[in-house]
Amino acid sequence: MNKILPPVKGTYNLSNYQSTYESFTWEHYLTELKQNKKINAAYLTVDKHVEDGFGEKIALHYVNGRIRSAYNFAEVKERIDLYVALLRRKGVKKGDRVFIFLPKNPACYFAILATIRIGAIAVPLFEGFMQEAVHQRIEDCQGELLITDYQLGKRVDQAKLPSLKEIIFQEDIDGLEIKPDPYVEWVDPDDPMLIHYTSGSTGKPKGVVHAHRAFIHHFVSGNWVLDIKSSDVYWCTSHPGWVTGSVYGIFAPWLNRATIVIQSGRFDAASWYDIIEQFKVTILYSAPTAFRLLKAKGDLYKNYDLSSLRHVLSVGEPLNPEVIFWADQQLNLRIHDTWWMTETGGHLIVNLPAEKIKPGSMGRAFPGITIAILDDDGEELPRGEVGQLAIKAPWPGLMKAIWNNQAKYEQYFNYPGWYVSGDLAYQDQEGYIFFQGRQDDMINSQGERIGPFEVESSLIEHPAVEEAGVIGKPDPVRGEIVKAFITLKPGYFNTEELLEEIRLHVKKNLAAHAYPREIEVVDSLPKTKISGKILRRELKQQEIEKLNYKTLSI
Ligand code: PRX
Repeated sequence: MNKILPPVKGTYNLSNYQSTYESFTWEHYLTELKQNKKINAAYLTVDKHVEDGFGEKIALHYVNGRIRSAYNFAEVKERIDLYVALLRRKGVKKGDRVFIFLPKNPACYFAILATIRIGAIAVPLFEGFMQEAVHQRIEDCQGELLITDYQLGKRVDQAKLPSLKEIIFQEDIDGLEIKPDPYVEWVDPDDPMLIHYTSGSTGKPKGVVHAHRAFIHHFVSGNWVLDIKSSDVYWCTSHPGWVTGSVYGIFAPWLNRATIVIQSGRFDAASWYDIIEQFKVTILYSAPTAFRLLKAKGDLYKNYDLSSLRHVLSVGEPLNPEVIFWADQQLNLRIHDTWWMTETGGHLIVNLPAEKIKPGSMGRAFPGITIAILDDDGEELPRGEVGQLAIKAPWPGLMKAIWNNQAKYEQYFNYPGWYVSGDLAYQDQEGYIFFQGRQDDMINSQGERIGPFEVESSLIEHPAVEEAGVIGKPDPVRGEIVKAFITLKPGYFNTEELLEEIRLHVKKNLAAHAYPREIEVVDSLPKTKISGKILRRELKQQEIEKLNYKTLSI
């Protein structure tokens, strides 16, 4: 470890932060919650601000190429009221699962909040998913209703989904004769509001169920970690189909009454800098891949006025020290890494503005959170030793369940009292945590979690593929890329055309972000002697040995 970045000075009261770090408890917020009879995370996120007299405040700026629009909180509420009216007219009730499959646009945000406001469970899907991925998820949690648009709706075949009673198309809503409905379903804090499907190393994706109580975690971490004030213009670049895009794209900023930016589409360095300049973005929350791509564009940032930007955060994959140093030296901004997972519902390891940053580390435990590194018997390891990253349970954002899979849920709590993350890490004397990889075969490409099993299943559906083993291959920009090792069925030959056809097969059927960028045809795959399971670990080891590590950091 070389350089340490000192705390951000000026706007923060250091002594205040440091004293509260130790004395912080969730109890304060939970007691307040218990006294409050009007609990509904969606209501608190938007409606409450309108009731409190902030209806005129700009809630969002939307950018889609040249299309730009803005909504104040009253207008956002009005749009949500329309979706509420429609959902209720369709008979959606408390506990029903409503899928939201829309691009990153305001309607996606409105539909999610409307679903939650009537006590139903919102299941947002990333716009890159194709039919296989969408169907699997709707089937798993017996989705009753889907909100989509004409384009993405083409990927859904209602005839094959018996639970799906109705599809609402976003484009049709304005043409409907319907009166906005201000209905709010008051709930118990432990009632479910959101399911995020996420991938593991084995099996199909699992539905991680979050309860309304998580809003406390969202609100507090939004305030402490994202440092959001109501005067901020905050931009989280993630799609709400991912947990970062919902928790820190919708709830945390709006619970703190900030103005958010929603940008349609994926990464483009010039338009990102342009958005920061145009909207005077003050806080940016993104992923290491995006920061690496910005860095790779060199001096491009000099063409833009980025002086509004005061706080930058990262999540989802290891943040290279080189990128932190680049931002520090060129942009005069620290990048604050944060660690958490779909299952944890909110930040657990963070870099607060008032704390020093140790590049290479993910930061320290969020106040009120206890972290430990455990050995294989569940015993705490001494500082400096690598082991399983575990968190003392519970905390307000912690998932409530895995949908329809109690056994999977319990696996996270194999050591009584601890939530075990599946990540490997060590902790230094000051409690800074250093990420060392995953304990399982989960792939992390551009901060997006990809299950090898899902990709393998899609690959072997192709007529030429006999067997497949899929791994994450280290990549200097994307963190990892999906690489598949396959054996071919008799009569098929290893040609570039065939490999391209196989790649496209996965891209078209499973997901645009999860297809194997590299495919290698092999004679046989390494397997365990007894069960005959493919040894992905060995494939990965071989791949890493082939790579020259020095070229890995840019
Ligand atoms: O391996 C860790 C990695 O992403 C996993 C969680 O992925 P997901 O549930 O999709 O949530 C992503 C964002 C909340 C973790 O188990 N991960 C997340 N943050 C970091 C990270 N790896 C290294 N550094 C991080 N800051």
